[in-house]
Amino acid sequence: MIEKSLVLLKPDAVQRCIMGKVITRFEDAGLKIIGMKMVWVDEVFSKKHYKAHVDKPFYNGLEKFILSGPVVAMAVEGISAVETVRKIVGGTEPKSAQPGTIRGDFAHHSYHYTDARGVPIRNLIHASGNKKEADEEIKLWFKKNEMHTYNTVHDSHVL
Ligand code: CDP
Ligand code: MG
Repeated sequence: MIEKSLVLLKPDAVQRCIMGKVITRFEDAGLKIIGMKMVWVDEVFSKKHYKAHVDKPFYNGLEKFILSGPVVAMAVEGISAVETVRKIVGGTEPKSAQPGTIRGDFAHHSYHYTDARGVPIRNLIHASGNKKEADEEIKLWFKKNEMHTYNTVHDSHVL
């Protein structure tokens, strides 16, 4: 029931200086950040992380986007963390992402707009899509000694 999920603050979130606001959304929900670092990804690593998308038409634009600046990688832990994080993040397309979600509140890019221009959809966040993806992604992004065990107030008030 307690799961881990991988969250990335993509280069647009870092460069728009909204890292704190975005991280607060996860902390406010009681999720625990058990790993966190800033990384500038290269082509090889991007292809590993986005292995499910490398053959898709939008991949080149996506790679350029993810390499355009440092990202912040977080391992996040909580009850059904994969689903809970996706709920907080919102749908892939900011234009149709629900208000109250990170993508719905901080962006409004649409597929219609980006596909017409051949540019990637800037949606601020990556979040693991399912448990299997989460396990693989945490392993790819974090070494064992970069993950931490500690107590937060949520351990006594939520769990
Ligand atoms: O990130 P999420 O799991 O919500 O979506 P995805 O389907 O796994 O796609 C990964 C990323 O590719 C998205 O977050 C977008 O940044 C990008 N993408 C894009 O630029 N253009 C598309 N038509 C579809 C996805
Ligand atoms: Mg995905």
